[in-house]
Amino acid sequence: MDVQIYQYDAVIVGAGLAGLAAAKELTSAGKKTAVITKLHPLRSHSGAAQGGINAALGAEDSIELHEFDTVKGSDYLADQDCVELLCSRAPETIRWAERMGALFSRDENGDIAIRPFGGQSKPRACYAKDRTGLTLLQTIYEQAHREGIEVFDEWYAADIIYKDDKVSGVAAFNIRDSQPAIFNAKVVMFATGGYGRAFKINSNAHANTGDALSIVARHGLPLEDMEFVQFHPSGLGGSGILISEAARGEGGRLYNSEGERFMEKYAPNALELASRDVVARAITKEVLEGRGVGPDKDAVWIDLTHLDPEIILTKLPELRELAITFLGQDMLKEPVMIAATAHYSMGGIPTDINCHVRKSPTELVEGFYAAGECSCVSVHGANRLGANSVLEAMLFGRHAGESMIRDIDNIELREATPEDAKAMLDEINWIKTNNGTEKVPALREELQQSMTDNAGVFRDEKTLLKQKKLLQSFAKRYKNIRIDDKSKTFNTELQEAIELGHMIEYAAFIVEGAIARKESRGAHYREDYPKRDDENFMKHTYATVDDKGNISIEYAEVVQGKFKPQERSY
Ligand code: FUM
Repeated sequence: MDVQIYQYDAVIVGAGLAGLAAAKELTSAGKKTAVITKLHPLRSHSGAAQGGINAALGAEDSIELHEFDTVKGSDYLADQDCVELLCSRAPETIRWAERMGALFSRDENGDIAIRPFGGQSKPRACYAKDRTGLTLLQTIYEQAHREGIEVFDEWYAADIIYKDDKVSGVAAFNIRDSQPAIFNAKVVMFATGGYGRAFKINSNAHANTGDALSIVARHGLPLEDMEFVQFHPSGLGGSGILISEAARGEGGRLYNSEGERFMEKYAPNALELASRDVVARAITKEVLEGRGVGPDKDAVWIDLTHLDPEIILTKLPELRELAITFLGQDMLKEPVMIAATAHYSMGGIPTDINCHVRKSPTELVEGFYAAGECSCVSVHGANRLGANSVLEAMLFGRHAGESMIRDIDNIELREATPEDAKAMLDEINWIKTNNGTEKVPALREELQQSMTDNAGVFRDEKTLLKQKKLLQSFAKRYKNIRIDDKSKTFNTELQEAIELGHMIEYAAFIVEGAIARKESRGAHYREDYPKRDDENFMKHTYATVDDKGNISIEYAEVVQGKFKPQERSY
């Protein structure tokens, strides 16, 4: 098949909230914009966000309090200039979404309702029942569609065209018929979501295989703070499917097998509404110390039976359905089994405050942008507050769109040739013709299980070094894979093989960053270094990989601001 060449002003990979917000801005500014996505936009993982989107709208709240909670929640690793932008533009972002037609739940006065979330000193999560992400995604897709965005859905973006410190397009293929193409553009943006699928128990969509991270890293570009993976306290027992923090925000209580409300020990003031890392560790500790519930004793109870049933029926209907469907447990009548689940990626592709991708802590890549969960701007530092990610995706997606509009006229379109697709076509050809013995699903399962076991909620030198060795062996075994489907039509076996290659590569960044960071901060908890160490590790990890697979680490300054580091307690 000949390589097709498309020409655009802007190409965006990913059609969740960040990608669509940027596309809408670009298209309404008259820039010819293509969105490439391996799913239909309405199936993007943004739609799975349940609990809310933060904005300081409450009478007793303020932007400064939102900033403080975000910086404290981040264990002081967030860049405070970016946090200021996030929190100060949050109310306007809510109004933007509302004016587009997003239907937020209302309080008794008819104002947008706000609910409490973990680690926050005031209620500030605006919500649409427990389907906040879906409501926002539907709204923004509808409006972006009205502006005339062009969507290439069920296309797989497999490479960037990166030469002379400049990105000038994307190599992709159509999943339907394997047609290869170059999407040539003045500006390219990645908004591909997170990398939670590297873990066995996770709350992420099947599509969250972190492709963009490995694509970027293969070109020698850095990844930032990859060791910070958020484990959400409440995944459904056994599967890890999200049971929103809204369940605790509305009053849900956690109990162990002895009937003890154990958060009293770990966070005597905030209890179940301590920051996510604190609650996830408390749950995991209860399980590890033998006070777990359920057939495998690997979960705890969340109990909402003391609440007015109306609260569950009107504010948490989807959570109730999920627990009934997957566990047969009705939260109106009985407690539900939950355990920590890999949920969110704080690390990612480093960007400056205007979403330009960094080549190093001090240099930028021309024509290349990232926003949302695949990026690290960094507003979440070592631990993200619940309901700040939907905010970040919409706000920084839009902000990236504005940056691209500003830059685009000063960037020359580089001529694309079919040769630009060579690396992608070589990879596809290699996977299809490799005659090994390893099967992709089995290898993926081993990768995910071992990441959960060795690089999960609790880590130490021994488990991390074990995982490093395992990853080296997975990389070797990956060279010996074989797929049986050689066809060109919806070849999901091929796609899964490409994705597994990406997962093995970026998992090594998680583990190397975690080995090097000899402290505990936010979601990164080292049992052998249980204290935060500001003197040596108040810094961002920048990691790069060479063509032999060796990862090198350097560090970059954290942007400090008005909030001075303090010990974190809840
Ligand atoms: O618990 C939740 O509803 C998740 C929200 C978030 O991750 O921001």
